[in-house]
Parts: sequence; structure tokens; C-alpha cells
Amino acid sequence: MGTEATPSHVAVLVPSARRAAAYLEAFGFAVGAAEAWDEEGTLEVYVERGRSNALLLMEATGPGPYRDALARRGPGLHHLAIDVLDVEAYVTALAGSGWLLHPASLRTLARSRTAFLARPGFPALIEVQGRDELEPGEPFVARVSLPLEPAAERLLRAVQLHGIVAAAPPGSEPSLSLAGREVPVRALVEA
Ligand SMILES: [Fe+2]
Repeated sequence: MGTEATPSHVAVLVPSARRAAAYLEAFGFAVGAAEAWDEEGTLEVYVERGRSNALLLMEATGPGPYRDALARRGPGLHHLAIDVLDVEAYVTALAGSGWLLHPASLRTLARSRTAFLARPGFPALIEVQGRDELEPGEPFVARVSLPLEPAAERLLRAVQLHGIVAAAPPGSEPSLSLAGREVPVRALVEA
């Protein structure tokens, strides 16, 4: 008990959350209101939040971890989020899996039952958020295709994201399958 997980959202860091949202709205997707998070220094827009998982567009508008991430790694996929019932049990069970607890977790665990996992070479963080119940259902982000080393399959299984993240050949472009529509991450970054 305590170690089951369901996908929650896929977060992409973009130069303009509003422009990326408008790009997706043209396909008929349900776009939420833009929300400013001053403490994190972000402007955030959820796309299809009513589904079992959503796409989260994040824009770094001020100082904070997302502006730092933008400076270090540039725009693109930032994190893959999952919901769990017991964050501590879930993270404890990952000992030896290859995932490392990101130092930001000290702050986020105290504030919001949230931990971040990282792995050098893996192109996204994993956000683990504690919930009172898990809501399985039809995902909006059905697939995330990422250029990954073969060893990443084991990492993805460990965090129960192997059903959603597909390894693409090295050098290929990250892309998202959104309710049956293939959208390159670059299209959101360049919107
Ligand atoms: Fe998130």
C-alpha cells in the first residue's frame, strides 16, 4: 500500500504560456485561465484539466526555480507529475531505483506534500504529489515521446510512467500525443 501512482500532468516550460495555450485552443482543447504564482515566479495555464491527466504550460515570469531551469536547460519539457496516496512511502520504495530526491523537495514536502525526483541525463524531473484519493481515467496526454537511452525503461517503470512515456531514438524530437493529436514540444516553445 502507498506506492501506487497515477499520472497527474505533464509540464512544459515555454516562453509564453498564453501563446502556447492559444495554439492548443485552436485544436478545440479546453484551456484554463492563466494563473500567476508569484512565489514560484510563474504564469501557468492548464489544458484539459478535467481529464485524468493534463498538460501544464509554465512561463517563468520572475526569479525562482523555473527561471533557473530556463537558464540552465532552456525551454521544453520540465516535469512529469504523478499523484500518490503516500509521498513518503512512495519515495522510500524508490531507494536503489536510480532516482534521486531533488533538494527542492525539502521545501515542497513541507508546504504541499510534494517531492521532486531527478536523474542525471533524464530530460525531465518527476513531481510526486500526495493526494487523498487517486482518480484514474482517460488521459489527455496519452503519450510523451522522448529521446532516451535504453536504460531509461527501468527508471520509467520504477515511477510507473512507462505506460505514458515512450522512448524515441536518440536525437529525435520530443513530442506529445494529446487526445490523439501529435504535437511536437517545439510547437509549444515556438508559439
Ligand atoms: Fe507540476
